[in-house]
Parts: sequence; C-alpha cells; structure tokens
Amino acid sequence: MFVLHIALQGCLRAQDVEYGLTADTGGHIRYLLDLVTASRRNAAIDRIEIVTRAFHHMAYAECYAEPVETIDGTTRIVRLATASADYLVKEDLWTEHDSLVDALVAHIDALDRRPDVLHAHYADAGLVAARVSARSGIPYVFTAHSLGRVKRAAFDRDCAETAGLDRRIAIEEEAIAGAAAIIASSRDEAEVQYAGYDAYDPGRIRVFAPGSDLKQFADSARDPRVEATIDRFLDAPDKPVILAIARPVTKKNLAALVHAYGRSLALQATANLVIFAGSRDDLTTLEPEIRDNLAELLQLIDRYDLYGKVAYPKTHRPDDVAAIYAHARARRGVFANPALNEPFGLTLLEAAASGLPVVATDSGGPNDIVETCGNGILVDPRSPGAITDALLAILSDPALWDRYAAAGSVAIKAYDWDRHVALYAELLADVVDGATTATAQPDLLLVSDIDGTLIGCAESVVDFASWHSAQVDVAFAIATGRSFHSAMAVLGQHDAPRPEILITSVGSEIYYRAYRGAVYDRDAEWEAIIAAGWDREAVAALIADQGGLVPQAALEQRRFKLSYFADGDRDAGERVRALLAAHGHSCSIIQSHGRYIDILPHAASKGTAVEHVRRRLGLAPRQVIVAGDSGNDIEMLRSARHAIIVGNYSDGLAARADLSHGYVAVGHHARGVLEGVVHFREGVADTSAGTLKAS
Ligand code: GLC
Ligand code: MG
Repeated sequence: MFVLHIALQGCLRAQDVEYGLTADTGGHIRYLLDLVTASRRNAAIDRIEIVTRAFHHMAYAECYAEPVETIDGTTRIVRLATASADYLVKEDLWTEHDSLVDALVAHIDALDRRPDVLHAHYADAGLVAARVSARSGIPYVFTAHSLGRVKRAAFDRDCAETAGLDRRIAIEEEAIAGAAAIIASSRDEAEVQYAGYDAYDPGRIRVFAPGSDLKQFADSARDPRVEATIDRFLDAPDKPVILAIARPVTKKNLAALVHAYGRSLALQATANLVIFAGSRDDLTTLEPEIRDNLAELLQLIDRYDLYGKVAYPKTHRPDDVAAIYAHARARRGVFANPALNEPFGLTLLEAAASGLPVVATDSGGPNDIVETCGNGILVDPRSPGAITDALLAILSDPALWDRYAAAGSVAIKAYDWDRHVALYAELLADVVDGATTATAQPDLLLVSDIDGTLIGCAESVVDFASWHSAQVDVAFAIATGRSFHSAMAVLGQHDAPRPEILITSVGSEIYYRAYRGAVYDRDAEWEAIIAAGWDREAVAALIADQGGLVPQAALEQRRFKLSYFADGDRDAGERVRALLAAHGHSCSIIQSHGRYIDILPHAASKGTAVEHVRRRLGLAPRQVIVAGDSGNDIEMLRSARHAIIVGNYSDGLAARADLSHGYVAVGHHARGVLEGVVHFREGVADTSAGTLKAS
C-alpha cells in the first residue's frame, strides 16, 4: 500500500524537528513522524510520502524550501511550491487551498505509482484531501489533531478569534464529510469533540490510541535532588504521596484537589499532597491565568492551614518527571488528575507506566486509560468528596494499591505505535478495497449483550470467536448500554469478533458494518423514528431539579440517552416514571444492575431496535436469537421469540413470567450464549418453528 500523508503546518522535517520554533510546529508533527516510522515496519505499507508546503523564510532553515527530503528508499517528504513562497501560520493557510490542490493533483499525476490512500492531518490538509480525492478518486482518511469547535467552546468570548475559528470549522466540516474514515486518539475525541459537527458520523470514526514513549517510566529511578525539592516542604516526608503534575490553568482544576485534601483530616493523616504546577520565576510576571490559579492554590493551602503537608516545588525540569513518579511510587502514593476535561491524558499514561495507581477525572481520555488498564478510579472532578473517597479507598487498601500499581503496565503495551499501525494498516486496507465487497443475506441474526453476557470470561470469548469464524450465514450483532466507541473498545480489548451490527446506547443508536468492516453506517432512519416526542433538554432539566439522581459521566450522555446512577434505590425507576409522566413526558426508563437508570425516547429500547434491524434485514422472527443477562436486556428478551438468559444473569431475569419462553443457560457468559444457540438452532432451521419451549 502506498500512503500519501498531507500535513501543511509548521516546520516539518524528518530529523531534529525544531518543536516550538513556530506555534504550529507542535505535537501533530511528532505524531505524524512516529506514525510514519512505525508504518515503515509494517509489511502492508510499502511506500510513504509526506506532502507539505515549501516556504522560504529568513528566520527558518533552508531545508523547508527543499522539494524533496529522502528518508529511505520507500519514504520521503515532498514540499510543494504554492502561490505564496512565504511561511504561513495555520490561520492563513486557507489562502493557499486552491493552489495546494492544483499542486498536489499535478504531483500525483507525475508519480510513477498512484497512492492508494491519502491521510490528511489537521483541518486545511483535510480540505485539500477532500478536493484532491474528488478529482482523483483516491480515498482519504482524516486526523484532526485538534478541533476548532472545541477551541471555540473554550474561547467563546473572543470575537477576533471567533471569525477565524468559524472559517476553520467550515474547513473541518468539509474534511469530515468526505473522509472514508476518521482516526481519533480517544473516545472523548470520537464521541464528544466531533459530536458538534454537522457531518458527525460516529460509525466512520475509529479510535486508535497513539503510541507514547512509556518504557522509560517503567523502571524510572528516584533522584535525591528531585526528592529534596519535595521533602523540604513536609513535616513527615515518608508518608504516601498524592501527586499531581499539571500546568496551573483553570481547566486542570488543581484547586479541587486542595479542597479535597484540606477538608479531609483522614486524608491529611494518611498522605502528603505534592503538586508540580509547572515552573515559575516571579509570580507577578506570569500570564494572568497561571498567576491567578497559583494564587488560588497558595491561598487555599493557607486557608486550610496545610503547611508541612503540601509540597509545591517552584521548578522542575522536563527530565525530572520520571523521577517524580518514581518517588511517588516508592512512597506508595496515588497520582491525581482532577481536570474538568482531559482530552487525552498523557500524565495518566506516564503514571500508569510508572506503576502508580490513579484517581482521574471521568471527563475525556482518562475513561479509555482506566478502562484499558484497570489502574485506578474515575471521579467527578467537580466533587471534592468523590476525589477524597477515591484517594482514601486506594491509600487505605494495600491489596488494591498493589493491584492498580501492577495493572498500569498494560499501558505500555496498549499505547504502542506498532500496535496502532497494525490497526491502522487494517483500516487503510479496508478503505482501499472498500466498495467492492457486498454482504451476503444472513440466515440467522444473533444479538448478544456485551457486559455480563458476551464478555466476562476470557476463555469463553475465545470459544465464541472460533465458533463465529466458522459461521457463514450468521449476522452477529451486539446490543449494549455502552456507546458505539465504548463498545468497539471493549470488544477489541477482549478479542471478541467484530460485529456486523451494533445496537448501542441501550437501543437508541444502530450501526451497520460497511465496506469490509473498516467503518460503520449509522441508521438515520431509526433515529428519525425514535426522535418523535423526545424532549431531551426538558427531561434532563426535570431530573436535575426533582429527580434526585446522580448523572453518569458526560461521555455516557447521548442525544437519545440520559443516564444516571441510582445506587441501591430500587424504586428510582418508578419514581422517575411518575415524575416524567406528571409533566407529560412518555419515555422508556430502564434500570439495570440496581445501579443504572437510562432514560430514552419512548420508542427506543434494545428490543425495539432489534425488531427494527430484523425487518431491515428482511428476516422472520424465527431467524433471530437474542442473549442477555440483566435489566437493560429485558425488553429485548421479552420481545424475541428465541431468548437466551445466560447462567450468570441478574435482576431476577429467570424468575420473570414475561421471560418464561426464554432458555436459561447453564453456562455463564459467552459459553451460555453458545449453549443457547445450539438449543435454538434447529428451531431456526425449521420453517414451521415458533413453538420452542424453554428447557
Ligand atoms: C452501560 C452504559 C451506561 C448505562 C448502562 C446500563 O454501562 O455505559 O451508561 O447506564 O450500560 O444500560
Ligand atoms: Mg449486560
């Protein structure tokens, strides 16, 4: 495969990149070069070109005007001459769109071999790829790296900035709309950051964690010089450490950590708080946001009288960071990241690789990290009480600390470029020969829940996967409370087969596998059906005012799904139903594991979604088998003729009169699913079936 990358910003070269030389010479270049380096090791990718813009500028090296920079026999950087020869900041790149498109089309025409796929990095490259793709027929994938809409949400008051951002957002819309696939780094990016775009289509986005250089943290050594800068603040420096490393900007929310610590005598008795909040010289000359945040931290330390318990060293060097984690690990500490939103969460990966348990914000990338590694606890960053409870839970339980500390090593394997490129090359291959494959009409639709049903026992997932690979006429679908990307992530982590169909967010979204499996098409028709009568804002407001329920993390809230916790409160579902009914809202209210409450549009549930899919596939009811384990499966199990209740069921499923037609498996998890399939299969093959009884 010949991959042509397009990256237009900053000072791009293969060696000794001058990061920070311009504001646009940043992380995306590192990402691109790391991706290219790892791609060269992948057999499926045999040629790579990075196309950028040539420019001359007195202040920058001559090399940025060189038309070709050879990396090796199969990889090179090509710099295209465009209308302007000057260096341009990213805000001005749009002036070059037309000449970039022309130059790239001419370049491709002159090549000895046509690229198989384009990969655009950042907004402007995405637009250029869209237009070149339209002219050449070569498909493209897109990586935004950062998004104008996210930035605008942060800067909504600055008008001058807003005009430029509007243009950038329009450019991004064009880039997103035409892309065969979009590559995101985290679930937050895929499901929250992209969600504001008109062209947003979650099924076309794949989340591939980028690699990161974590090995250095695994066996990092302590450093007495670094420890001295911490210990001089502390009365009892040998206590465990609650460590935070973050720039003191408002969204990092470091003050919440000082509140949590300051209000809890138990926490103060157990551990010291160590905050590395960047480096500073003179507080008064810092930029205002940083100055104000530091002032708040110092003022809180004083207010709670935390002298001798909190360390806030004045400076540290970038290469001290590994030793800082090593120190906290040696003290059996915990790393805390209470950011209001953390798009990715590199420090959490570093902490994980260092063998340090984490307490992290439930907003953004940390969800992926903690779910992948199982190395800590997610908390609502606005709740100091939740932060305190999570810290104490880990600090006061040595066995839990050991488990979380050991689990962090998973990060080193999961966030690895070779692993990334294996998934990436597979995606590109699917995009390249995509449209040619047609799917056969299935004979049987098998729909399984994920958590507690398909997944829960590693060996039985292996059995299921080998059974599945031998089936030619079975369409495998999952129906889950998880969102699309959460489902894809957990299926991938457990080596479960890739489903043909995903019914996600408790039946409120449906996706069908497109191409050969690279991406999924969303069922817009289903969304139009369930949208009727759904007033999301009104329902959310009512529950917030009078519902007495704790909302789940932002990532769990979807356009057609509002989710809450109702720990221990068995009557919560009924109470909410009555409350909503009294205000004229008829919703589907689904309680599971005695813990979750989901509120969906009236017509949405796993059961109605399965029925919709059945009709769309043109299958008879007897050609459908469903499997589940808990409350959010009841609708689906009830309305299906062939229902499997796995042996490890909860929420009293086997005792329910309305599920008496179901087959209660002896086997647990995927093994129970397979057992049920064997039980029902004869009935499925028999056209006169429909009278199967539970055994
Ligand atoms: C999954 C979802 C959650 C939902 C639960 C029950 O855990 O992530 O939002 O409440 O399923 O449906
Ligand atoms: Mg379940």
